[in-house]
Amino acid sequence: MIPTDFIEKKKMGNEHTADEIKDFIGAYVKGDVPDYQMAAWLMAVNFQGMTDRETIALVDVMLHSGETIDLSHVEAFKVDKHSTGGVGDKVSLILAPLANAVGCVVPMISGRSLGHSGGTLDKLESIPNFNVMLPKKEFIRLVEEYGLAMGGQTKELVPADRKMYALRDVTSTVKSIPLICGSILSKKIAEGIDGLVLDVKTGNGAFLSEYNQSQRLAKQLKNVGQQFGLKVKAVITDMNQPLGKAVGNWLEVVESIDVLKGGGPADLMEVTLHLTAWMVVMSGIEKNFDKALRLLENTIRSGKAFEKFLMMVEKQGGDINMIQHPEKYKQAAVIKPALSGQSGYVKEIDSYTIGMTALSLGSGRKNLQDVIKPEVGIMIEKKIGEHVEKGELLAVIHAPDTNSFEQARKQVLDAIVISDTRVSPLPLFYETF
Ligand code: URA
Repeated sequence: MIPTDFIEKKKMGNEHTADEIKDFIGAYVKGDVPDYQMAAWLMAVNFQGMTDRETIALVDVMLHSGETIDLSHVEAFKVDKHSTGGVGDKVSLILAPLANAVGCVVPMISGRSLGHSGGTLDKLESIPNFNVMLPKKEFIRLVEEYGLAMGGQTKELVPADRKMYALRDVTSTVKSIPLICGSILSKKIAEGIDGLVLDVKTGNGAFLSEYNQSQRLAKQLKNVGQQFGLKVKAVITDMNQPLGKAVGNWLEVVESIDVLKGGGPADLMEVTLHLTAWMVVMSGIEKNFDKALRLLENTIRSGKAFEKFLMMVEKQGGDINMIQHPEKYKQAAVIKPALSGQSGYVKEIDSYTIGMTALSLGSGRKNLQDVIKPEVGIMIEKKIGEHVEKGELLAVIHAPDTNSFEQARKQVLDAIVISDTRVSPLPLFYETF
């Protein structure tokens, strides 16, 4: 395989064979194809797309680019959830222990924050001493013994995605449906699951903001996932405003604790229950979706979901004292409000800007070596459709210093559009495939 011929073929919109894809990706992982040639090919894919056959071949070669986790000896149905990424999306923190509390086996491998969008690993790492970088053996042991583990991608798992993703991030090739499919499905299949619930976000805080793109992604993820023997349910959910109120790692953990105890924002509770219910149905624990929802509501009410969260934190080395007493956590240096400059109805919230503002406060990384400040972030106090008076609270900003507070305050106020006329609240769910 001559790399330039391979790149040329895609540039001209032609279809690769599975062997060609295997050779090119294989050579890239070994270091025989340089980043600049991979970047050129990624851009060609970005514009020309891939056929289903090519996408399946891509997932296959990425999946086998390193080690995989074999959980075939664990008899129970193994199920996970993956979100395509959003702002304030802390669903995994609640969903994994909740699903486990009703009997689901959940081996979950998550990612870090990326651009404006938060990452489950960074949220979990805001819990003092919580170990997300579980060696493969320990990950398997936790799944075997407790049916629940939340970890990060080790160096050996799907190295093709690690290299390609880092390159996509800096070459503006993240928003490609076949590349997203390759990236998500290779990682998820590698963790040894039988079923996957996909939360495909749509709106201004999602990677794919256009509805028809989210729809295409949902269908494609489902089709390709099924080709690998996975049971897949893909739900398109709204990301035109942050989910819940909290945006920022520790703030999101605290909000997740609230939901696990039966409180917290209604939208976050509803989306979490909905996605978890599909996991319960898929696992065969409850056949009927509505009954699964009731089961989950009762499980939260009984305190069992929160107990499972505590168990998971403890088994992964985290400080449960901090979970039981979140008020003891280190606070941001400046915690001040952003007040509305006018009366009216919240019409729009630019979630991308909210995510980027949280990032610039220190909740994410601009560069790989940046150190995250877990205590910073933003609490969004009004949802689209809600009424607000001039001078009323729109958000609370948890900032590391006065300057960054002032900058964040302006950005947050600019991101929230107020209208004089009534605005309808947004739906939480669109289509399910
Ligand atoms: N999440 C992933 O893991 N990969 C993508 O390509 C996009 C979102």
